Amino acid sequence: MSHHSDSHARTVSANQGLSLCPVDAEGFLALVDEFIGIYSAAMGYPAEQASARRQLWEQHALRAGFSCVAVFDRCGHPVAFAYGYSGRRGQWWNTEVARGVRGTPAEAWLADYAELTELHVRPDHQGQGLGERTLRAFLASRTEPQVLLSTPEGDNRAWRLYRRLGFQDVLRSYRFTGDGRPFGILGLVLPV
Ligand SMILES: CC(C)(COP(=O)(O)OP(=O)(O)OC[C@H]1O[C@@H](n2cnc3c(N)ncnc32)[C@H](O)[C@@H]1OP(=O)(O)O)[C@@H](O)C(=O)NCCC(=O)NCCS
Repeated sequence: MSHHSDSHARTVSANQGLSLCPVDAEGFLALVDEFIGIYSAAMGYPAEQASARRQLWEQHALRAGFSCVAVFDRCGHPVAFAYGYSGRRGQWWNTEVARGVRGTPAEAWLADYAELTELHVRPDHQGQGLGERTLRAFLASRTEPQVLLSTPEGDNRAWRLYRRLGFQDVLRSYRFTGDGRPFGILGLVLPV
């Protein structure tokens, strides 16, 4: 399969037989159920709630500037992945963030950016640096001058990772329409 060709494979951990590879839109669509499974386990969401994301993610794969990277085990199953696309006016996430930054200096972040839409590591593979490697590979795949993401507020591993890479606050304790939880919107100037 194209997502798993030797020419793209890069050893992450020779001991565990893990390899980090870019995944194109076609490969992403073929793996979407496995990615949903990782997302569900990583976020602790029930399977039905997680699979409701499938249609949305399938649409994301068709967006301009889509890129995905994943870590595969020796059997060819993904254990970690990140994906995103080019931010564009009119996208739901862009509209939501634009509402929050309007009239402030943070508005500049929206001019030209990559959106990191999802980053997840299967729980049994967390805490070994895979999230950082996956995120760095995603960032290296981008051509935009900056990247933006949103993540629930909290003192957790995701925040530690983003701060370690140098992500700065764009908006804090921000409320997206239809979600009661406060989110941080973070931005990073590329390349890292
Ligand atoms: C957030 C998440 C993507 C981070 O991925 P991860 O692989 O678990 O974490 P990292 O790559 O940052 O690994 C770093 C941790 O592993 C440890 N580690 C062990 N070996 C390491 C190595 N060789 N290199 C780097 N870190 C290593 C570090 O000590 C560090 O621990 P700390 O975070 O407690 O300080 C992952 O934990 C996850 O999917 N969480 C649930 C879902 C989620 O929150 N997603 C993001 C929401 S937007």
